[in-house]
Amino acid sequence: MSASRPSAATQALLRLHKQIRLCTRCPLHRFRTQAVPGGGPSSARIVLVGEAPGRQEDRQGEPFVGAAGKVLEELLASVGLSRTDVYITNVVKSRPTSGPRPGRNRPPTTDEIAACRPWLDEQLRIIRPAVIVTLGRIALEQFAPGRPLAKVHGRLITDSGVTILPLYHPAVVLYRRTWMRVLKRDFQQLRRVLTKSRRVQKTVR
Ligand code: URA
Repeated sequence: MSASRPSAATQALLRLHKQIRLCTRCPLHRFRTQAVPGGGPSSARIVLVGEAPGRQEDRQGEPFVGAAGKVLEELLASVGLSRTDVYITNVVKSRPTSGPRPGRNRPPTTDEIAACRPWLDEQLRIIRPAVIVTLGRIALEQFAPGRPLAKVHGRLITDSGVTILPLYHPAVVLYRRTWMRVLKRDFQQLRRVLTKSRRVQKTVR
């Protein structure tokens, strides 16, 4: 095998991204510019999961490229990481809006989340990260339902062999800069997981 050939996991992820871009499982496809599958290496040890694409993400096709993305990049830098080191995605892959573009951002509905869930599951099955960082309440609810974010943020939760680090959504910093301190402190937990865990060899079944 030549050195430049993409790994089986990378190929599987690229195929999955293609399928997500064509997805019409929920009504959100009607008003989107494009779906936003996610991005980052298939070998990432950290997967960050946000809520849903916003206007900038819908335009550019990449997650967290707007103002909240800048906060996220600052957080990653605080633990010596950049966005190319991690895989970033959202619970819902198309921008939830009230109607035709530009429309207003709104939270995804339960039905939209359920329709999109298989995509997230498949991404995690391919990547098999050491830790999943949930960004905000909606992402946390997918992995640790019923746990109040105010109580569990910054605490590692291990359930069925998966480690979750719940964080407040980076957008909170846009409303109040002082939240950055809380987010940075919580993010420090990543160091602990990463030094403990060994890279698991990925297989694509
Ligand atoms: N907020 C999210 O939850 N996801 C994005 O991709 C951008 C903003």
